[in-house]
Amino acid sequence: MQMDKYERWFLYATVAVLVAFFVAVIASVGEAGIHLPTQVDSVDPTEVSSTPPFDNPGLFQTGDDTYDAVIVAQTWQFTPEELTVPAGSEVTFIVTSRDVIHGFMIPDTVVNAMVIPGQITEVTYTFEDPGEHKFICHEYCGLANDQIGHHSMFGRLVVE
Ligand code: CUA
Repeated sequence: MQMDKYERWFLYATVAVLVAFFVAVIASVGEAGIHLPTQVDSVDPTEVSSTPPFDNPGLFQTGDDTYDAVIVAQTWQFTPEELTVPAGSEVTFIVTSRDVIHGFMIPDTVVNAMVIPGQITEVTYTFEDPGEHKFICHEYCGLANDQIGHHSMFGRLVVE
């Protein structure tokens, strides 16, 4: 088959880009530990405040260096709004929403999840270094009673 020289180069380049992306995906999973947050269970959004563990949101130590952070999202706040863990802690965030779709993201970490009413989102991260992080809602969660507050929906995670 007759193929123009430049066309052939372009095909090679296309395949090379695909291979590079594929390698990047494999590397991000294998090396950087990046993976999709999983939906582990479901919960009736209207019954969140009376359904364990969300009837008692907060931080719970589950092992020497492991914690569960149970967090409820609603317009426009997270409950609790502040968490403190020792450096080196592996924290599993267990998050759901009482109303609309929110987000749960901690900048400079792999924590980046959607919080969907009816679903329980779990994402785990180990905080090696002391410092302060914000967990922010990064899904636009709009208007309620003619007010907007998405931009003010965040909490604080202190690593001691
Ligand atoms: Cu909640 Cu944006």
